[in-house]
Amino acid sequence: MVNAVKNPVDVVIMAAGKGTRMKSALPKVLHRLGGKALLGHVLDCTAQLSVRHVVIITGHGAIEVEAACALFTWATGTFDTDLDMKFARQEPQLGTGHAVQQAIPLLADDGVTLILSGDVPLTQATALQALLNQCDGQRLALLTLNMPDPTGYGRIVRSGQEASAHSNTQVRAIIEHKDASNAQRQINEIYSGIMAVPTALLRKWLARLDNKNAQSEYYLTDIVKFAVNDGVAVVAHQITDAAQVAGINSPVQLAELERVYQSRRANALMEQGTRLADPARFDVRGNLTCGQDVEIDVNCLFEGVVTLGTGVRVGANCVIANCTIAANAVIHPFTHIDGEKLGVTVGEGALIGPFARLRPGAQLGAEVHIGNFVEVKNSTLAKGAKANHLAYLGDATVGERVNYGAGSITANYDGANKHRTVIGDDAHIGSNCVLVAPVTVGAGGTVGGGTTLTKSTEPGGLHVARPKQISLMNWKRPVKVKK
Ligand code: UD1
Ligand code: CA
Repeated sequence: MVNAVKNPVDVVIMAAGKGTRMKSALPKVLHRLGGKALLGHVLDCTAQLSVRHVVIITGHGAIEVEAACALFTWATGTFDTDLDMKFARQEPQLGTGHAVQQAIPLLADDGVTLILSGDVPLTQATALQALLNQCDGQRLALLTLNMPDPTGYGRIVRSGQEASAHSNTQVRAIIEHKDASNAQRQINEIYSGIMAVPTALLRKWLARLDNKNAQSEYYLTDIVKFAVNDGVAVVAHQITDAAQVAGINSPVQLAELERVYQSRRANALMEQGTRLADPARFDVRGNLTCGQDVEIDVNCLFEGVVTLGTGVRVGANCVIANCTIAANAVIHPFTHIDGEKLGVTVGEGALIGPFARLRPGAQLGAEVHIGNFVEVKNSTLAKGAKANHLAYLGDATVGERVNYGAGSITANYDGANKHRTVIGDDAHIGSNCVLVAPVTVGAGGTVGGGTTLTKSTEPGGLHVARPKQISLMNWKRPVKVKK
């Protein structure tokens, strides 16, 4: 994004708070929204701006939070690894002003400081850039919003106005809810917790803070009064999208914002033409890319990086993670796919499921059929190969048009090492076979049902390894003894 502001931008993210109301051992900013930590969202947004340094204020769960920041780069897949992150510890946590004071030694006076909260995940870079433009290296710019129910938030107090709704008069102060008079509590314009401020001024004002207020905390918001006293312009950049400033304090708020987030993801896909049977029963935790005419039935979950080609149809109740599905493939209901780090690929026109499971390294060619209760792991299936019922293919290389019978498995693990099974083109594996790896079935060969195959076979032929059938014609079925 083009940075219209001349001064370098340094970002301070407050992430030291305890998050008591989450009632969790996990630090609040590491709770996930859309599969990504709250703080990860804030960092993703930050990475879309041109910024110099990012200082993250940690305290509660500091070690965990700092370690997680190093991992976000791969966990999110999307973000700019060039972010220059530093940490400042705040112990104990004496308020938001005290939090930012900890970052001050790491900030240079030639910059503008953009202050964000680690628990406000859905702010958009465009709103932050507009705020920075308003600051313009010289003003104190506050991101504000009119809320029907402003309870709990800091109120924007303007001159000549105590109780009236928002007007365009000069901002005088931010008054915290707990310190506000009844008249001030009627004000609907609230402070989002996000501001942009010239760093030299921030440094000066933070040094003047005290904690003489209802919470005995050092309030960052008190710097507004100092700006007014010093004759520095204070501007409120008002936005209308409440989700962008919504902070997470409790599991209920987290779940509510998750729904907002998911409905936005769903709408964005539908606007590009993807057909969702029900956007309220659709979840993405990662990046989902859809070609034209993709149809997704209800209750599907997409995780990690998933690409669906043109005309792909996904049935109800599928979980699909880290996978690329080529054009016109059909994923029938209740299929579970997770490529994890190796990935999964499904070829053009393939039919998968219902109740199929594709695991890391499954690479399925065009028109492959994988039916119910079939598990495929680290295996390549060439064009037109089929495994339609109750089967396992692990560490296998399967040729074109192979038919892999019901109940057959590759015994790929000897208790210590994994071994490969190779099945040549046009081979036919009967039902309930065990292919004991390492083993090769030659092209065009047939393996009889019930065979436990331990030796590789030449191309063609019939290969059977099972006890010969016997028939006892005089045999009588036992009769129940009467007592
Ligand atoms: C703050 C604002 C309030 C605003 C609201 C928006 C102050 C004094 N008040 O209130 O005007 O309407 O945000 O959501 O700033 N934190 C620390 N160290 C601390 C205290 C907090 O790092 O000592 C962090 C928290 O982890 C959190 C953020 O700062 O990420 C905001 O703290 P929180 O206690 O939630 O502030 P509010 O009381 O909501
Ligand atoms: Ca608080």
